[in-house]
This record gives sequence, structure tokens and C-alpha cells, in this order.
Amino acid sequence: MNNMEKIPKERLPKHVGIIMDGNGRWAKKRGLPRALGHREGSNRVVDIVEYSYELGIEHLSLYAFSTENWKRPATEIEKLMELLSFSIKKHLERLKTNGVRIRILGDLEPFPRKLKKEIEFALLETEQNDRMFLNIGLNYGGQDECVRAAKKLVALAKDGKITLNDVTKEKFEECLYTNGQPPLDLLIRPSGELRVSNFMLYQLAYAEFWFSDILWPDFTKEVYASALKDFIKRNRRYGGL
Ligand code: IPE
Ligand code: IPE
Ligand code: MG
Repeated sequence: MNNMEKIPKERLPKHVGIIMDGNGRWAKKRGLPRALGHREGSNRVVDIVEYSYELGIEHLSLYAFSTENWKRPATEIEKLMELLSFSIKKHLERLKTNGVRIRILGDLEPFPRKLKKEIEFALLETEQNDRMFLNIGLNYGGQDECVRAAKKLVALAKDGKITLNDVTKEKFEECLYTNGQPPLDLLIRPSGELRVSNFMLYQLAYAEFWFSDILWPDFTKEVYASALKDFIKRNRRYGGL
């Protein structure tokens, strides 16, 4: 495991977020259709999820489909949904037996009924697990998440369940998709883009960023290990000295 096993668990990030980007460019470089880039990318997801729980990372958040990705051609969106459905069916049993609890960040409402049912089944099947939370960002946007949280608070106030003074940082966090989970420690973005593309805007307040030109389908366990090793060297001050 490239010396990773020597790193004490306490020094590893508790919560890692990954913007899985670059599938299309990976395919284009090879003269292949974008869909094949997504397929290859989905194989990396399996490796990275496994490696994460083996190392003892407790929360892994993967950005799979953003609120802005609906702008893509319908055929590409369909392919992505097919791939998701296929991957859930293929890997659910393994995730279940390895203690992974699946959580969805995002609103599943616009997805096809069949896919929603498959996802809901996977959530139910893994809800007793507590080794690692696997958050999957689907129709997820950080801005959308914050607006929804604000709406939830207004609804609670309207029902007389909270007053103005109850609106605290903690209360706001309870209204996010990540309710009960720690903030992001490490945000990884491959593919060469130096932006966060609406991912976990609230949770990344004090995250360490790790960018790389590597495209997601080339993101191996070794690449992941190098990001984790870099993280360990960072000096986090949280505004203090
Ligand atoms: C990431 O790869 C997957 C999704 C956003 C669903 P892209 O499809 O964005 O790949 P590039 O950025 O075009 O290379
Ligand atoms: C971010 O990638 C979304 C996901 C990886 C799911 P994009 O490819 O959509 O981001 P931009 O458009 O380059 O910012
Ligand atoms: Mg992209």
C-alpha cells in the first residue's frame, strides 16, 4: 500500500471530497466516445472507495453529477444514469459487507423512477453500516444545498419550532445534506481545472485543496496516496497561529 499503512489513522483526513473530473478529455485523447471515459472513470471509483475504507477514512464524498450537469446533451446524461444504475447493482453487496454506508447529497427527484428505487434500496441496505460514509453527489450543488437549508429553517420558524435566536451555525449544518458529518478536510480535484464547480461550498471552509492534471480515469490508488501524503504535511491553522 505504498507505505500508507505506516501513517497513523489520526493523521489522515476524516473527510475527503473528490471532484471526479476529466472523463470526457480522457476519452477524447484516445479518440473514444465520452461514454467510454465515464465507464473507465467508474472503475476508478471502485478502487478509491475500497482504498479509503481500508485506510480508515471515515467520510468520502464523491461528486458524480452536479446541478449544472443537466446542461449536457440528453444522450450523455442517459449514459451517466445507466452507468450509475449498473454500478450500484454490481457493487452493492461488496459495499454492504465492507461496512460502507451510502448517502446521497442532492435531490433525486428529477431522476428516472427506476434509478431512484435502486438508489433508495442501496441506502436502505447499507443504513446500519458505520465503517465509512460514502456520500455521492447526485444533482448536487453547494449553492442549492444552502438555499434548501435556508428554506428548511424558514419552514421550521413558520411552524413555530424555532425562533430567530435558534438559527446558529449548528442548526444550519443540521439542514445540510451532510447533517452529522464533519467538515471536509481534503478536497481533491483532478483534470487540471482550478475551481470547485459548486461542490460542498459550506463544508470546504477549511479544507486543504489538492489539484492535479491527472484525468479521473487515470486516478489510481497511487495518485490518491500521494494526495493523502501531501495532506499530512500541511500546517492547518484555522485562523489561529
Ligand atoms: C466528469 O468528467 C464527470 C461528470 C461531470 C459527470 P467530465 O465529463 O466533466 O469530463 P471532461 O471535464 O469533459 O473531461
Ligand atoms: C464538476 O465537473 C462536476 C462533477 C465532476 C460531477 P464539471 O466538468 O461539471 O465542471 P466544470 O464545468 O468544468 O466546472
Ligand atoms: Mg468536466
